[in-house]
Amino acid sequence: MKLAVFNGSPRGKNSNTNVIAEAFIKGAEKAGAETENIFLIDKDIAHCRGCFTCWYKTPGQCIYRDDMTDLLETCMSSDIVCFATPVYLWSMTACLKNFMDRLIPAKRPQVIENQGNYDMLDADDKNPDVVIISNAGFPGDNNFNTMKAVMQSVEPKLEIYRNCGMLLRTKNAGIREIIGKYLFWVEEAGFQFVSEGKITNEVAAGLNMELLPVREYIEYISG
Ligand SMILES: Cc1cc2nc3c(=O)[nH]c(=O)nc-3n(C[C@H](O)[C@H](O)[C@H](O)COP(=O)(O)O)c2cc1C
Repeated sequence: MKLAVFNGSPRGKNSNTNVIAEAFIKGAEKAGAETENIFLIDKDIAHCRGCFTCWYKTPGQCIYRDDMTDLLETCMSSDIVCFATPVYLWSMTACLKNFMDRLIPAKRPQVIENQGNYDMLDADDKNPDVVIISNAGFPGDNNFNTMKAVMQSVEPKLEIYRNCGMLLRTKNAGIREIIGKYLFWVEEAGFQFVSEGKITNEVAAGLNMELLPVREYIEYISG
């Protein structure tokens, strides 16, 4: 079982997103997965030009020879791919979006209908299962609404949305203890998802645990 995490935070390894991703990976590895944690900010990925050469002239092959050649191969050869990003302006970062746009060679120019929705045909019969990991700087859950809607297009099997994300790398000992409890659930999610392809309701509830009451969080980030 191969899991690849594509992290679109500009803060890369030091991102709050990566705190969640690392815990998920730890659980996945305990379940026997071979994992790769990829920081897209460190990669050379040109913007998709929308020329459709990868559909009509050289099927499956982009006009660019940049890091996306290997990343597309990594993505398509994985059993599970995780798209990980902080919320930027209610959606994913430009870094992750740029990467996801460049996944278009994995589609073919044939429109298919699925329960009233239209998509392009997948180039491969077998596609990886998709997991979404995201964190938002604000409390509450409405900051994920746009992201959730957009991510439906990749039919995620598991979505981990963490509000109050600026606590994830806190140095405050008391809060670190709470984060530790939260990361226990994330690790468990990684373990269960790799083992069973789903998570229990108990783990799902753990992923939504409160990190701090809203008022305290606002005080915390207001310095
Ligand atoms: C340009 C920019 C836009 C942001 N937009 C939002 C937003 O719309 N909603 C939100 O809750 N947080 C927003 N944030 C806060 C980030 O989601 C938050 O700082 C997050 O913890 C960063 O995660 P990272 O360390 O993984 O990059 C924004 C941050 C930046 C820099």
